[in-house]
Amino acid sequence: MYSEQFSHLDRLLAETREFWQFMPFSADYANWEAQYPELCQWLMGLDEHALAGYLADTEALADKLSQWIPQVVDLQAASQLTMLEKVDRLPPRGIDTGIPGRKWQQLLAFNGVMPQLGLPWLEWCSGKGYLGRVLSATHQTPVTSLEWQQALCDDGAVAAKRLGLPMTFVQGDAFAEESSAYIVSRQHAVALHACGDLHVSLLKQVAAKQGQAVSISPCCYHLIRDKEYQPMSALGQQSVLRLSKLDLKLPLQETVTAGNRVRNLRFVEVSYRLGFDSLQRDLLGEERYLPVPNCQKALFNDGFEGFCRWAAEKKGITLPQSLDYRYWQQCGEQRYHWVERLELLRQVFRRPLEMWLVYDRACFLEDAGYAVTVGTFCDKPMTPRNIMIHAERKQ
Ligand SMILES: C[S@@+](CC[C@H](N)C(=O)[O-])C[C@H]1O[C@@H](n2cnc3c(N)ncnc32)[C@H](O)[C@@H]1O
Repeated sequence: MYSEQFSHLDRLLAETREFWQFMPFSADYANWEAQYPELCQWLMGLDEHALAGYLADTEALADKLSQWIPQVVDLQAASQLTMLEKVDRLPPRGIDTGIPGRKWQQLLAFNGVMPQLGLPWLEWCSGKGYLGRVLSATHQTPVTSLEWQQALCDDGAVAAKRLGLPMTFVQGDAFAEESSAYIVSRQHAVALHACGDLHVSLLKQVAAKQGQAVSISPCCYHLIRDKEYQPMSALGQQSVLRLSKLDLKLPLQETVTAGNRVRNLRFVEVSYRLGFDSLQRDLLGEERYLPVPNCQKALFNDGFEGFCRWAAEKKGITLPQSLDYRYWQQCGEQRYHWVERLELLRQVFRRPLEMWLVYDRACFLEDAGYAVTVGTFCDKPMTPRNIMIHAERKQ
């Protein structure tokens, strides 16, 4: 039962939420800064090399942070997952035609851990039905692939016909009434990387119809139609945590160390935006972050003053004739430095929050009478969204 894991993570995340449930960019945080001067000092003092080192080594980061936030040790332990048992199932030659290499490796890994139940498959939000191809070719059972985009259905159907695979494509909206007709009891439903509410809708409908089995790899938890996260399980609904879409993005924010060129571009863009934000707060006496739209990267070549003029026009703000742009640029650069270090701090909560969301799904399925298994189907470099939730209806 996953209820224990969920409750444990829930308690730890609730206790530590001031350290992860804020937006570093907007500067509407600081609840904990006064209480933890040494933690702030340590973060501020990290040079670029140390920052990159900790970004690449969450264990070392957790170890260091535990002197101020002891829960991080338990949070790391509670979010470990084991690799699911794998069987090598090599599809016949030619099945991989047109499938990008990394995707192909993910498909083999996903299929390799999939229990073989001898049931027909439903592939939810299938794209071109790459997964369905592998399933139908290696298990010799028919696949129905439901996908929103007609062009992807057409592509998939042509390939399936050419390869002689028993696949049927259905163009449909996963949220529409009519689509639920494809979810039936004697079936193994699958969804690889169906975003947010798309996989949630599948799990809910499978549970409602008591489908025999379902296996998903969740992703894009923030792509939901409601304003905030709606917990699925009874335990989740009792949680004190309220997750906004921005909170739900945290599991996907794996900060990787980029090359120098990308880092420099990011530094210019982000420090300009933060500098303009500090300037507008001062001018308008505002305490809130003011989002400025995306723009052509070439705009940043005009320098900070040029960016401020553009942003002010976009937001209908009149800039005074004389402004100390150098000062506001430096404010932006200082905020950038701090934002990067706050993002590092949040990294240690990234996988725990993802596991909270995953266990909420697992508990929901357990509540609905399923035996559930959660584990990874591949290592991180292949895809960071490497978790499978598999559920089989108890007899
Ligand atoms: C991230 S892709 C995953 C595709 C495939 N499962 C894979 O792993 O390659 C998500 C797919 O969901 C489809 N999709 C988005 N909204 C949908 C909806 N409302 N109903 C059905 N499919 C949808 C998209 O067109 C896209 O092909």
